[in-house]
Amino acid sequence: MLPFRGARVAMDPGQLLRVMGPASIVVETGRIRVLGAEFGPGSSILVHRYRSYVVKALERAVLSVRLGEGGAIEKPNPGEEVVDAWERIAEEIASNGRFVAMVTGPVDSGKTSLATMIANVALGKGLRVAVVDIDVGQGDLSPPGFIALKYLEKPVTWLRLEKGDSLRFVGGITPVHNPYYTRLMVGAVDLVNEARERGCQAIVVNTGGWVTGINAVEMKIELAYAIRASHVVVLDEVLCKRIGSAIGSSIKVICAPRPKVVRERNRADRRELRRHQYMRFFQSAKRICVDLSSVVVIGSCALSGRKLCAEELPSEVAHVLSRVHASLYEHDDILVLWSRRDVPSDAISKLRAAMGREVFVVTPASAKGLLCAVLDENLRVASPGIIDSIDLDSGELCIYTEHSGRVGGVIIGRIKLGENWDEVARLPRCPL
Ligand SMILES: Nc1ncnc2c1ncn2[C@@H]1O[C@H](COP(=O)(O)OP(=O)(O)O)[C@@H](O)[C@H]1O
Ligand SMILES: [Mg+2]
Repeated sequence: MLPFRGARVAMDPGQLLRVMGPASIVVETGRIRVLGAEFGPGSSILVHRYRSYVVKALERAVLSVRLGEGGAIEKPNPGEEVVDAWERIAEEIASNGRFVAMVTGPVDSGKTSLATMIANVALGKGLRVAVVDIDVGQGDLSPPGFIALKYLEKPVTWLRLEKGDSLRFVGGITPVHNPYYTRLMVGAVDLVNEARERGCQAIVVNTGGWVTGINAVEMKIELAYAIRASHVVVLDEVLCKRIGSAIGSSIKVICAPRPKVVRERNRADRRELRRHQYMRFFQSAKRICVDLSSVVVIGSCALSGRKLCAEELPSEVAHVLSRVHASLYEHDDILVLWSRRDVPSDAISKLRAAMGREVFVVTPASAKGLLCAVLDENLRVASPGIIDSIDLDSGELCIYTEHSGRVGGVIIGRIKLGENWDEVARLPRCPL
């Protein structure tokens, strides 16, 4: 490590420097390149505390670098840095003039950085560029639970400062199980098609870090076909070979090297990053209320069930329900009990025994904090939302959202946010 916390650094042409955040870089003289974007005199770059960048001098340059707590600046050892190999890959892909490149690899392998570089290089060639971020847990362009598309007009170093132009809802933070798997696949295809229809020549698809196990590998392969990728870039040798042997010659599979030194993020860091994303997308949210009978609701056990009336129920069940002022919704396999208050457990066991089906209890408290997607009148995702209150008796649903237009519907997710934007750990099958 170089022995300073804030200083001027002179760089020779072609020289590399690794800057670990938090740090800020101001170019005093000369030109540098970071993630495929060029910076000249007077321009500045912020390096967030969870990120590190490799700076390459394109000519003799002088930088003024300030480091925050935990930040560092170092000269990479020979062979440690991958920036030259990455730039060649980005050049190769972008020189096609029209491409759909999907970037994949394990957690912290550099997917977001390489995807950003490919997008910046494509912009430098004058192409119309879209980034489609389908990392549903650690996406940059949307809160967790969503995937997003961004039309890129200028080079970026950190996509997390941008917001997606078009969002799709997945509803969970990993695509491992359904319905999230299907929603992610459908949403990804939909976003890539939208970018195509809008005339984007360069579409860069950044994926999440779920790569272990056969399902994860098959998902990546199916995704590559479904979005009609021209290139798949893989930041892991073993995974690359696996994908390469499964995909024929129709899609070019490129094995990219992984940087040897990165700013790694542990579980707690990733949780904190998600918390920040929730905060960012609800900063100027307002509370809106809708009438449940006039909007479409997707993803709710109670609201998609059939409401049972007292006459249909065995008398002991009708008696229990009237005692706790609750109503019952049925599906073939489960029952959903709606109540404004907590329901005593003996009442629930009586219901379960009498009806022979699993019973889920929905209350205003179980629904409060659920992440949802607010749909516009065409039932397209307009904005993320958080349920504040619901009353199935009066039919009123109130949501915090930045959406200010008409609401045509809501998709309920399975992520619940508590005080301070933390994710509530365990949710029942039917929180609503
Ligand atoms: N070539 C590199 N040299 C040093 N650090 C890097 C390099 N590429 C990425 N990083 C850093 O490594 C971390 C993980 O990279 P990122 O692109 O976010 O990976 P992923 O999207 O696969 O999780 C980030 O902090 C990023 O700034
Ligand atoms: Mg990433």
